[in-house]
Amino acid sequence: MKLRNDKTDGTTAPATELIFGEWYPALRAKVLKVGTTQTSMLLGVPLLLGRKRDGTIFAMRDLCPHRGIPLSAGWFDGEHVQCKYHGWKFEPCGGQCVEIPSLTQIDTLEPTKIYAGSYPCVERDGYAWVYVPAAGAGRNFGDLPPVPELPKFSQRYRSAHLVAELPCNVDHGIIGLMDPAHGPFVHQAWWWRSKASIHEKEKHFEPIPEGFRMSAHTPSGNSAPYKLLGVYGEPITTTIDFVLPNRRYETIRCGAKWFSSLTTVTPITASTCRIDVYAAWNVFYWVPFVTSVATFFGARFVRQDQETMIEQAQGLRSNPSLMLIDDADKPAKWYFALKQARLKGTGEHPLDGPVTLRWRS
Ligand code: FES
Ligand SMILES: [Fe+2]
Repeated sequence: MKLRNDKTDGTTAPATELIFGEWYPALRAKVLKVGTTQTSMLLGVPLLLGRKRDGTIFAMRDLCPHRGIPLSAGWFDGEHVQCKYHGWKFEPCGGQCVEIPSLTQIDTLEPTKIYAGSYPCVERDGYAWVYVPAAGAGRNFGDLPPVPELPKFSQRYRSAHLVAELPCNVDHGIIGLMDPAHGPFVHQAWWWRSKASIHEKEKHFEPIPEGFRMSAHTPSGNSAPYKLLGVYGEPITTTIDFVLPNRRYETIRCGAKWFSSLTTVTPITASTCRIDVYAAWNVFYWVPFVTSVATFFGARFVRQDQETMIEQAQGLRSNPSLMLIDDADKPAKWYFALKQARLKGTGEHPLDGPVTLRWRS
């Protein structure tokens, strides 16, 4: 029997520190039709995203630098964003003010010296990625890190995207993502695996810059998707990389066939996050409907995580002290160590070489 307690006490979920100075996916780029805008939020920063007539996308801080009204309350004509309050106009890609309607001939104020907040914004893998600088970084962001991209291994492939909002802070979203021990309980299904199939596993990890890799190996024989891949009769290898601030890359290769996914857990605020999965594959490329089937099963998988984290969030509201155990929670410990090293700028890495972990799942 499942025990359940759905009571909520109305308090908000615990917050966490956030990593600024990184690219995060704000929304699916296809919702940005030419000449329109959408609002979004990353790391507590309200954003106004849009697409200009020439097709370029932009991300502005959704606040007018004059008196702070959201720019989303105003107008966008495909070229300029105009504030609703006093009509100041901005070029949205760079944020430069191009017009202050109230100025007279004798005013000496130069509108073009004024800037609204605007952030680097790039379309990749169907997302509008936004670089979110640290507060007070000014307008010169220096050298930007590369925009994240899902690795693909052939010209032709299919792809699918899944999204789920989580009511917990990004740390819980991320450690949930790398947690091997919840699988048989949260993701029980005939096509995946069941409690009865729990067995001991041994996984090899190695350090990579700002993250760690679960080294290439033949995946567990008790999971159906891998069995499906096995029909090609070649050895299957899987690599799972976690890289700060929030990325999990999984690559499964079997001869010329491949499946690749990038899962990100993005902070919306300091206490809420969103999980995005973008996957591409050339396995069964020729089979019609495979995208919808994959999306269906993937969506179910993500929903199981989401439902569990909604339940977890109820418990977390009362700020309990928590545990991380060895070895199953070791990757979570590495994540926290990597994050602290990044926030403090120590350059330390929790792994000084290859490590083998063992758990039952
Ligand atoms: S508040 Fe935007 S123009 Fe005045
Ligand atoms: Fe999961």
